Amino acid sequence: MIRTRILGTGRGVPPKVLTNHDLEKLVDTSDAWISERTGIRERRVLDESLTTSDLSAEAARNALDAAGVAPSELDCILVGTVTPDMPMPASAVILQKKLGAGPCPAFDLSAACAGFIYGLGMADAFIRGGQYRRVLVVGVEILTRVLEWTDRNTCVLFGDGAGAVVLGPEEDGRGLYSTHLQADGNLWEALYQRTGGKVKMAGRQVFSQAVKNISSSCMITLDHNGKTAADVDLVVAHQANLRILEAVAHRCGLPMSKFYLNIHKYGNTSSASIPIALDEAVRDGTVSDGMTILMCALGAGLSWGSALYRW
Ligand code: UT7
Repeated sequence: MIRTRILGTGRGVPPKVLTNHDLEKLVDTSDAWISERTGIRERRVLDESLTTSDLSAEAARNALDAAGVAPSELDCILVGTVTPDMPMPASAVILQKKLGAGPCPAFDLSAACAGFIYGLGMADAFIRGGQYRRVLVVGVEILTRVLEWTDRNTCVLFGDGAGAVVLGPEEDGRGLYSTHLQADGNLWEALYQRTGGKVKMAGRQVFSQAVKNISSSCMITLDHNGKTAADVDLVVAHQANLRILEAVAHRCGLPMSKFYLNIHKYGNTSSASIPIALDEAVRDGTVSDGMTILMCALGAGLSWGSALYRW
């Protein structure tokens, strides 16, 4: 049976750090409130002179190097983002040019914080269907450009970053078992950014929807594969709020020790958070052969999903 395997991972995170103490000077907040209510201590901010495709290129080059795949070998480039370089063309084609990739299809995918899981699902269909052999999936966001820096309800939460994976077919039992994607457009007003506007969020509503839907999605994915929480070795979840992950852990019977956490360093990087966390977990040795990895996310849409992967 052909499965989609992650051949290499990479990330690009800007060097500039914005701490909770820095934010105390901008809005009526405190390091104690932010870290206790969210788990975030600092986040990264991309230099004004750089763009989404620049950050994507850094993550993509690292993933291509790790995979031993040349840009010219890519059959498809998929970029999950809600903060593209420009409305048209897609950031994926600008990335294609920066990488020096061939004339393969390249497009953006808008599913907010679920963008990486959605991208993984699409790439998996392409690969298992035999259409493409080498697919680059990037999750990238520069949300600091679209935040209202006077709104403490949102500006303390988000950060910039990019993560990437290079995917290809595998027949030895390893790889992606399944992805499960969902959306409920009735709830779009809970989290949105109007064209030219700033991010608006009904925090408590998104919080409770995130706990409910991420938990149920994880259970659907485990059931679908005949697995239980006990079979999961590592959870690489979207890093939006530590308390969301604690509630999901409780509901799904997954100990927090199985969750890879880096929210304290980067805040919520939306579609980038899972591939950044996965890359860190691979490079710091947390991930090892044979591990069963559960990935899950929820974001604007509301859109959510999960995936089960055997390393
Ligand atoms: O990435 C995908 C989508 N995003 C999420 O998943 C985020 C989901 N939501 C959350 O993570 C949380 O709802 C927040 C972190 C946004 C807010 O935490 P909360 O515990 O739900 O706080 P709250 O909105 O209920 O506000 C509690 C209080 C309010 O004050 P009053 O009305 O009780 O006087 C807020 O005004 O905390 C206040 N508050 C703050 N205080 C200090 C809100 N933001 C801040 C702040 N600093 N930055």
